[in-house]
Amino acid sequence: MAELSEQTIEALFDESRTFPPPEEFRAGATVTSDEILRRAEEDPEGFWAEEAGRLAWRRKWDQVLDWSNPPFAKWFVGGKLNVTESCLDRHLESNGDKVAYYFEGEEGDTRTITYRELHAEVCRLGNGLRSLGVKKGDRVAIYMGMVPELPVALLACARLGAPHSVVFGGFSADSLRDRINDCDAKVLITCDGSRRNGSVVNLKAFADQALADTPSIESVVVLRRTGHDVPMVEGRDRWYHELVSDQSTECPAEEMDSEDILYLLYSSGTTGKPKGVVHTCGGYLTGCATTHRLVFDLKPEADVYWCGADIGWVTGHSYIVYGPLANGCTSVLFEGVPQYPDKDRFWDIVEKYKVTQLYIAPTTIRTMMKWGTEYPAKHDLSSLRVIGTVGEPINPEAWIWYHHNIGGDRCPVVDTWWQTETGAMMISPLPGVTTLKPGSATFPLPGVFADVVDESGNSVPLGGGGYLVLTRPWPSMLRTLWGDDERFIETYWTRFSDPSSGKWVYFAGDGAKRDKEGYYWLLGRVDDVMNVSGHRISTLEVESALVDHPAVAEAAVVGRADPTTGQAIAAFVTLRGTATGDDALLAELRQHVADKIGKIARPASIVFTPELPKTRSGKIMRRLLKDVSEQRQLGDVTTLANADVVQDIAERAKGVRAAED
Ligand code: WTA
Repeated sequence: MAELSEQTIEALFDESRTFPPPEEFRAGATVTSDEILRRAEEDPEGFWAEEAGRLAWRRKWDQVLDWSNPPFAKWFVGGKLNVTESCLDRHLESNGDKVAYYFEGEEGDTRTITYRELHAEVCRLGNGLRSLGVKKGDRVAIYMGMVPELPVALLACARLGAPHSVVFGGFSADSLRDRINDCDAKVLITCDGSRRNGSVVNLKAFADQALADTPSIESVVVLRRTGHDVPMVEGRDRWYHELVSDQSTECPAEEMDSEDILYLLYSSGTTGKPKGVVHTCGGYLTGCATTHRLVFDLKPEADVYWCGADIGWVTGHSYIVYGPLANGCTSVLFEGVPQYPDKDRFWDIVEKYKVTQLYIAPTTIRTMMKWGTEYPAKHDLSSLRVIGTVGEPINPEAWIWYHHNIGGDRCPVVDTWWQTETGAMMISPLPGVTTLKPGSATFPLPGVFADVVDESGNSVPLGGGGYLVLTRPWPSMLRTLWGDDERFIETYWTRFSDPSSGKWVYFAGDGAKRDKEGYYWLLGRVDDVMNVSGHRISTLEVESALVDHPAVAEAAVVGRADPTTGQAIAAFVTLRGTATGDDALLAELRQHVADKIGKIARPASIVFTPELPKTRSGKIMRRLLKDVSEQRQLGDVTTLANADVVQDIAERAKGVRAAED
């Protein structure tokens, strides 16, 4: 694990710049006092029980939290529910005709889907899946673009109690195959293709490649979206529209235990192999619904909420599907990208639907800053009330830009820190309560207990930096890693826990600093995980993809600071034998990584070097490569076996520019 440098900890944030909730905002806000925080601190289980009570349960729980076998938590023990009844059925009577999703397709095609229609569609697909033999406990993989049938697919699985495993549509065939095989999925739901930035991504072709080696898959359901010709395999593949056409719009929901699995979602860790994060029904839905309501000051009767994430990531699971639907709110569901057909697409959508809450990644904001204020200035953004960010630290400049140019200086910015593993937001302002500081995610949410600790796990006094930990279980926490309890314990619970004294501490993998007033400032990952445009990518995964290429002998990968994407992937590669590191090979290696993992993992730059800097015990010194990549004064090289190589690499790195795409 990398050490936190003093320099990072002391990073110059201006802690004195503060933004209290604007008076007009407070006047209309639902929560305006910190009473809720105090109440939850005094009685966290009472707080969470009250929140869980807002959901539709078939049978109430006997016990709020069972923490008798840490770190395996059970929440709302004995409770029975099906999450789709909270997300759909219970809204039908009084709110059936309310819009659940305004779908905005990339080409400007639109669909309006009410709760009643969504319920019917989920039931039809649920019945269709049942007819394919899917039953409670079976895993279903989903590999689709951002179309309404994607949330329908998640919910149809949830209806049957079949854990879904969504694989982001930008991942490669290999990534899809590995994720299917890790959980032995029985069915895959996919599309012929998806639309992205004016072109078509041939998802079915990738799926077919993956399916060449996925023995567990029995059936493939293919949604027609782009309409291009795709081969269908007799006996295995069937069209979505044919599967659902004769199905009933009623589909009995499977009764689930609060602790039954709702879904798996694979996420990059410090090893080369992504891990299947396991979320369960009762606690997860409680976490999503509560945070979605509180952090966005939700007024379901009036709001039009829009989260710009992809459902392939946890943000989409929690804040496009489960949280918003449990709260019965109206959301925008957008298929496309911010720059298509022009750079004002987002602002056009905000104006068109009168969006009240917007939730996007800092990368998107920084990209928009580069494009200039003329794009948002063309549109009426006055409907916005709360604007949020997620996925990576937001630098104060981007925060201020967002606050001013998008939020019109009147919308609180909610910078929300959380992870795939936490299931829901953990550290975030409450917009009617918290005085904001640009660049700080501010404080733990009600019912969340965080701390910043030093190497030995001792709490660091205010003003200091260290490792961010969570010190008490929370309802939406991951329960384990699919099929690997040991790795679950090892990854999250070993570093700072002391089981002999009953102390269990969750280590998030992030560095953080708390200022004198207790505000949390996130400092980025302290492990080998990179954060590129808010996407988690493991350095090891990219290294394995590179060395998989026949020309590559050895590779080292680091995340280098990048003004737009947060981090950019910088690779250092030594070649085998007579291979030459020319532009053609560089392009080939980038493509190879795209084929192995997905385009998001392509290195921005590759430096060919005859050797990598190594310690005498043969460990690659990534820290030095990071210094080289960020053009910093080189750190201590005395422990290196081959010190002179670093200077050579630094020279080579100077001439290298990042790939433009
Ligand atoms: C980072 C995304 C700073 C962090 C929901 C975390 C953040 C990782 C923030 C999880 C934030 C997320 N400020 N850093 N507001 N939000 N991160 O699993 O490093 O894709 O550990 O979940 O993103 O990424 P994941």
